[in-house]
Amino acid sequence: MNAVLTELLSTHSVTAPSGRIFQTTVGVSREDASFISDIINADPEIVRTLEVGCALGFSSLAICESTKARSGAHHTIVDPFQVSGWEELGVFHLRKAGLDHFELVTEGSEFALPRLAKQMPESLDLVFIDGDHTFEYTLVDLFFSDRLVRKGGYILVDDASWHTVARAIYEYLVGNKKYRFHARHAGRRAPAKAMLANAARPMATKGILRHLPDAVATKLMAVDLGDMVAFQKTG
Ligand SMILES: C[S@@+](CC[C@H](N)C(=O)[O-])C[C@H]1O[C@@H](n2cnc3c(N)ncnc32)[C@H](O)[C@@H]1O
Repeated sequence: MNAVLTELLSTHSVTAPSGRIFQTTVGVSREDASFISDIINADPEIVRTLEVGCALGFSSLAICESTKARSGAHHTIVDPFQVSGWEELGVFHLRKAGLDHFELVTEGSEFALPRLAKQMPESLDLVFIDGDHTFEYTLVDLFFSDRLVRKGGYILVDDASWHTVARAIYEYLVGNKKYRFHARHAGRRAPAKAMLANAARPMATKGILRHLPDAVATKLMAVDLGDMVAFQKTG
C-alpha cells in the first residue's frame, strides 16, 4: 500500500493549510482500499479509470498506486467540492505520493458523466462510485458509468449497504443490465446477516425480491451487497 495512504489510514484527522480539520473517517477503510487494489492488481488490462467522489483522496491513492506502472494509465477524478470544500487535499495527497497520472474534474457527476460518456463511450476499464449516496445520484452515476465502461470493465460501488445505494444497484445494474457479480467486501457481518446475504441475490435473479414488501427487499439487498461491491460488464 502507498506510504501516504498508509499514514492517512492511521490518523484520525488531517489539517488543511487554512487550519480546517477534516476527519479521515470520510475516506474508504484499509479493507476497502485493499479490495480496490486487489481487483486492479488482478487484471493488468485496467488502465483507464474514473472515480466519483475524492474527498481526502484515499480511494484515489489506492487506484492510482495500483495503475501507476501501467502503460497509458489515466485516472479521472470527478468531485465538485474538491477545491471549494476539501481545499484540494485529495489531489495534494496524490502529488505527495508521487502520483500524477490523474485529472480533476470539478463538476458534479450528474453533469460530468453524461458529457464524458458522450465524448468517450465504453472506453473505461473501471469506475469507482463514492459520491452523493442518495438513490437518485447513485442511479445517475450507475447509468452513465455503464455508458462509460467497456465490456469486461468493472463498476465498483462503495457503501453498497446503504439502502439508497443498494436499491439503485439492484433496480438498475442487477435488474436491467448485463453485469456479472465480481466480488464484494462484506465488512464485519454477523452470521445471521451473512445467511440473509446468501439468499438475496438468487431471489433477485429469479425476480422474487420484487414481490416482497419494500422494507424487506431493501434490507435483503443491503446485507447482500456489503460495504463495497464490484460488478463486471458482460454485455
Ligand atoms: C465519502 S466521500 C468520498 C471519499 C473518497 N472516495 C475516499 O475514499 O477518500 C464523498 C465525496 O463525494 C463528493 N460528492 C458529493 N456530491 C457529488 C457529486 N454530485 N458528484 C461527484 N462527487 C460528489 C464529495 O465532495 C465527497 O468528496
